[in-house]
Amino acid sequence: MRPDINYNPQNKDLEIGGLSAAAIAEKFGTPCYVYSANAIQARLKTLQRALGAAGIGERTTICFACKANDRLGVLAEIAALGGGADIVSGGELKKTMSAGIPPEKIVYSGVGKSREELQSALDAGILQINVENGQELKLISEIAKSAKAHKPHGTGISLRYTPNISSDTHHKTATGHTENKFGLSEHAVTTLARTAKEAPHLRMQAISIHIGSQIVNLDNYDTAFQKLRALVDKLAEEGITLSHIDLGGGMGISYGRGTEIDIEAYTRLIARHFGDTDHKLIIEPGRYLVAEAGVLIGKVLYTKERASKAFAILDAGMDALMRPALYDSWHDIVPLHAPDKDAPLKTYDIAGPICETGDIFGNARTLPELRPGDRLAVLDTGAYGATMSNRYNARPSIPEILVKDGACRLIVQPPSIDDIIDAERKLVFESRVKT
Ligand code: LLP
Repeated sequence: MRPDINYNPQNKDLEIGGLSAAAIAEKFGTPCYVYSANAIQARLKTLQRALGAAGIGERTTICFACKANDRLGVLAEIAALGGGADIVSGGELKKTMSAGIPPEKIVYSGVGKSREELQSALDAGILQINVENGQELKLISEIAKSAKAHKPHGTGISLRYTPNISSDTHHKTATGHTENKFGLSEHAVTTLARTAKEAPHLRMQAISIHIGSQIVNLDNYDTAFQKLRALVDKLAEEGITLSHIDLGGGMGISYGRGTEIDIEAYTRLIARHFGDTDHKLIIEPGRYLVAEAGVLIGKVLYTKERASKAFAILDAGMDALMRPALYDSWHDIVPLHAPDKDAPLKTYDIAGPICETGDIFGNARTLPELRPGDRLAVLDTGAYGATMSNRYNARPSIPEILVKDGACRLIVQPPSIDDIIDAERKLVFESRVKT
C-alpha cells in the first residue's frame, strides 16, 4: 500500500515497519501517530540515488524541511544518512542540532525571523540564511558585526527570489508569485545582492527559491529554474558570483490517488539547468521524505445515522491533523484489518470530535461497516500532521511512535491536560508577580 506500511498477506492486519498497527494502538492508545523509520530512510536514499544518477549527487545537499516533521526521532534518521535541514525558526534550529544535524548543513528560511533567532543562527555558524527582505539583511549585517557571530567562514547569505510564477497547487501552499508574502522580486534581489556583496560582515553566497508545496507538475520547476538560472547569470556578469544555489522544496506525492512527482525527471531537470555550473546545490524537500512514512490511528467513538448519510466519529480530529480542514486535502482512510471480500460495506463521513463543522477527515468513504471501538488509519500523515497539531477544545496533543527494525518506541509524549492545568494554575493562582 505504502512503502513499509502494508496489510500482512497472511493475517490481513495492517503493519507498519512489520509491526501490527492494532498492537501499537493497543499499547500506546489512540489517537496516535506512528512513523516508519525504514520508510523515511528508503525515501531519502531514493532521492540521493536520483541525484547521483543525474550526476549532481556530490554537489547537492538535501536539507530536509523539518516543518514537515520536526520530531527528534525523525530528524535523527535524516541525520544518520547525511541529510541536512531547512529550518524556519529558532526552535527548529535547536531541534535539528539536538538531533545531530550539523550546522554546516542547515539553511534558515522563513519570512519573519526575529533578532534573537538570527543571532542564534549566526552563533551556530549554519550554512546559510535565506533572506526575505532588505530590513532583514540590514539586521543580519548589524548582528554579524558582533564578535561572537563573526566567523571567517561563517553563515552565508542567500536572497530568496520570487520568480513570479503560479504553481499548480492549492492556493494556500503556492509561494512563487509576487502576490504572496514570500521572497524578493528580481529587481530587489539584484539591488540587495550588491549591498550584501559590499557589506564587510556578510558573505553573499546564494540565491534561493521555493515556489510552493505539493507540486507534481515539472513544468512549474522548469520555468522557475530557468528564471533562477537567468538571474544567477545576470548577477555573475555584474561580478556577483555565488557558491551555492538553493532550489527549495515542494516535491509532491500521490496521496494514494493522484500522481507523484517523477523524482528522476526532477533531478535530471536540475542537472539540465545547473549541470554546467560549478555551484553547490541545495534542495529542501519536506513532504516527499516523510509523508508516506506516517499514519494517524484513531478509534471510532460512535456511528451516527442521518437520513442522507452516516457519520463515523473518531477520537482523532482536526486538532491532531489539520490538513483536510485547512486545505480540503485528501487522505486515504483504511481499517486496521483488511476486510474480507464479502464483508458488508458502508459509506461514511469520517469526522473528528472537535466542535467545528469542518472537522471531517473524509467525506463519503466506503469502509467495512464500522462499530464503536473499531480503529482506522489515516494515511500519508507523516508530513504536516503532528507538527501542525494544536490543543483546540482543550485536547492534549497525542503520542507519536517510531517503528524501526522490528521494534517500536515512543518518541513524543506530550504533556497531559493535568500538566497543562498545573502550569496555568501556577501562573494564575500561585504567582505573586503582577504586571
Ligand atoms: N522550503 C521552504 C522555504 C518552504 O517554505 C517549504 C514548505 C519547504 C521547503 C518544504 O516544502 P515541501 O517539500 O514539504 O512541499 N502545511 C502545508 C504545506 C506547507 C509548506 C510550507 N513550506 C501542507 O500540509 O500541505
